[in-house]
Amino acid sequence: MPTLPANPTVAIVGATGAVGVEMLAILAQRGFPAASVRALASERSAGTRLPFGPEELTVEALGPGSFEGIDLAFFCASGAVAREYAPVAVDAGAVVIDNSSAYRMDPAVPLIVPEVNAHAIGDAGLIANPNCSTIILVTALDAIERAVGIERIVVSTYQAVSGAGAPGLEELERLTAQAAAGAELAPEFFPFPCVHNVFCHETPTDPATGRNVEEQKMIEEARKIWSRPDLKVAPTCVRVPVPRAHAESVNVTLRASATEADLRAALADAAGVRIVDDRTTPRFPMPVDASGGDDVLVGRLRPDDSQPSDGPAFIGWELFCCGDQLRKGAALNAVQIAERMLPG
Ligand SMILES: NC(=O)c1ccc[n+]([C@@H]2O[C@H](COP(=O)([O-])OP(=O)(O)OC[C@H]3O[C@@H](n4cnc5c(N)ncnc54)[C@H](OP(=O)(O)O)[C@@H]3O)[C@@H](O)[C@H]2O)c1
Repeated sequence: MPTLPANPTVAIVGATGAVGVEMLAILAQRGFPAASVRALASERSAGTRLPFGPEELTVEALGPGSFEGIDLAFFCASGAVAREYAPVAVDAGAVVIDNSSAYRMDPAVPLIVPEVNAHAIGDAGLIANPNCSTIILVTALDAIERAVGIERIVVSTYQAVSGAGAPGLEELERLTAQAAAGAELAPEFFPFPCVHNVFCHETPTDPATGRNVEEQKMIEEARKIWSRPDLKVAPTCVRVPVPRAHAESVNVTLRASATEADLRAALADAAGVRIVDDRTTPRFPMPVDASGGDDVLVGRLRPDDSQPSDGPAFIGWELFCCGDQLRKGAALNAVQIAERMLPG
């Protein structure tokens, strides 16, 4: 594993965006031992001031010289920016952790969720952060995969608008005001109204398979993270009128039957997971509870009795999970990867 210096110099590409702003907050909250932090964005934002703990950073325009003297570069911009500048950062000697989809399926680039496959970081100088829906799914299910093994996952997502970045959140606020005023809803960013509505994830739909790109990512990335090319994954990805935190309805078919006690014991010990499953109150995972937090909330664990069973042991199980996609689904996961690369 390429060990970072104890106090690395850090650059954040896309520091003004939804993930970049969260990245700055998380570095400050966790006391990440950065010697310095350089905030980079497009020319448009050069000179903008961003809060970083008790200080402020001045945003610089990204350019070929941005990575001189940088040990660690978090990329929180588009795939195009990552494809152009991640090699520049690596050549300048920085370890790059990229939030975009540019390198995720490159066989030479590890795709990491630290609780699941930190061992795969190896000596890579470029590491990919998985898709937000995938991170939340594998974090929720990894303990079950380890304890029993998973044959098949059917998952439906309920994805927050900020998953599409700061413009998605601005559109939700704009259309909420339009709806409150009784005006006609006029989407400018999403293809359909993101209030009073749910719609198929806005990434392109493959005319041949009918699958959208987000669904394809969940299949391919889950298989890569778990090193399980045989894993069956059937996702349906949907955008919902929620500002922040993705929820997922999950049905798993296990490799062997298990009891509720087996699965609850596995989940109770799972790093990055908090069980929220109060049938009495009742209270289950919700975006309002997951927002701003680090854990993936898991609940509504119940047997799928449409599948074979052996007494109380079932092959099929259902659960509902929810995680802050700007934190565990992006910035926090990237910082956790970097923390694994610090000495000691
Ligand atoms: N949002 C999520 O929940 C989430 C989750 C997982 C992964 N991701 C991925 O993380 C990345 C960032 O997403 P986001 O949601 O934060 O998007 P965003 O809110 O739209 O922010 C995009 C950032 O990229 C910067 N940028 C744009 N063009 C640039 C250029 N030519 N050079 C340098 N910087 C440039 C923007 O700077 P300006 O302010 O100057 O335009 C801004 O800081 C994307 O690849 C996304 O797919 C997002």
